[in-house]
Amino acid sequence: MADISIEVNGIKFPNPFVIGSGPPSTNSKTIIKAFDSGWGGVSAKTVSLTETPVINVAPRYGKLKTPKGEIIGFENIELISDRTLEVWLDEFKTIKDAHPDKVLISSIMEKYNKDSWQELVGRIEETGVDMFELNFSCPHGHPEEGMGAAMGQNPDMAKEVTGWVAEVTDLPIWAKMTPDIQDITVPAKASMEGGATGISAINTIPSILSIDLDTLAPTPSVEGHSTPGGYSYYAVKPIALRMVSEIGRGIPGVEISGIGGVISSQEAIEFILMGSSTVQVCTGVMLQGYEMVDEMCEGLSNFMDKHGFKTVREFVGHSLQYLTTHHDLAEKRLAKKAGALSANRDNNWTGDIKKETDELVSK
Ligand SMILES: Cc1cc2nc3c(=O)[nH]c(=O)nc-3n(C[C@H](O)[C@H](O)[C@H](O)COP(=O)(O)O)c2cc1C
Repeated sequence: MADISIEVNGIKFPNPFVIGSGPPSTNSKTIIKAFDSGWGGVSAKTVSLTETPVINVAPRYGKLKTPKGEIIGFENIELISDRTLEVWLDEFKTIKDAHPDKVLISSIMEKYNKDSWQELVGRIEETGVDMFELNFSCPHGHPEEGMGAAMGQNPDMAKEVTGWVAEVTDLPIWAKMTPDIQDITVPAKASMEGGATGISAINTIPSILSIDLDTLAPTPSVEGHSTPGGYSYYAVKPIALRMVSEIGRGIPGVEISGIGGVISSQEAIEFILMGSSTVQVCTGVMLQGYEMVDEMCEGLSNFMDKHGFKTVREFVGHSLQYLTTHHDLAEKRLAKKAGALSANRDNNWTGDIKKETDELVSK
């Protein structure tokens, strides 16, 4: 077995696999189960000060299936933790007592108020958590109150709030980005300037999952009505990978915790190759169980042996070098073979559409 541990911001992760903030990290029972199952880190369900009200609805999830019934996407309209900060403070201590060598990340969110953020950080830090993740990215419910994605979409605010947190803690701080923005590197850079030590990306993508053709109401349906939610799971991976690559190329050397659509070691390794030093999984765990980490560790180890990598750090961002502009691709193709681009010109399509499409698919 290769050495799959990695040090990030001075903290040693036994493996780069972290439970993403959400139902698989919603209380101490689930977090301890995650650590017992072999996950290297857990980002706990986002907490706020007790006075910030959180009222969840049910149902609040939906699955996107192919006509053959395979689940490819997932939507939720869940808010952050509805449990009080006091309960969480006790549980953070219990978790660290049970698993001192695993990495416990406290995901936090508050209103645009310096005292609130600093109080939250101060009280949580005393419990012995290893790092903070700032939720600048929840896409539903909270942005209406100026929290979550409302902060990630406002680089000045992201920088200022990160600064408030950095002022009162020496623990590492990851700022978690929303994909619902034109250029994700702008709030990512702003958060780093404010004092973040890394960037988590991505949170869920605003979405409407489906419309029930009997009731004509969108889903998930609560008393006959719905609201746009956050899209996750396998189908979002290509979008997440692209956004992670932009952060990796735009902020060289930044520690990225890649998130979005990981269902096995394959996608997790892809995130590492695009610049992530850790990889988070949320919906994959909800649908496949905590045990999926066994295959992820084994697959990562096999991949490293196959390529002769001795450490994970050696190939963080390795594949970014192969990304270039479209113009450069055409130049490269022509340089390799004169006339190479004439064979597949638009005029040549005959209408044998499935065959002609297949001929242009990357093997
Ligand atoms: C039901 C559900 C609840 C979530 N709650 C939170 C949360 O409280 N805080 C947060 O930062 N992200 C939350 N997320 C987002 C995930 O941590 C993750 O960023 C996103 O789902 C993409 O990763 P995935 O495809 O592995 O699920 C939640 C996701 C789901 C599906």
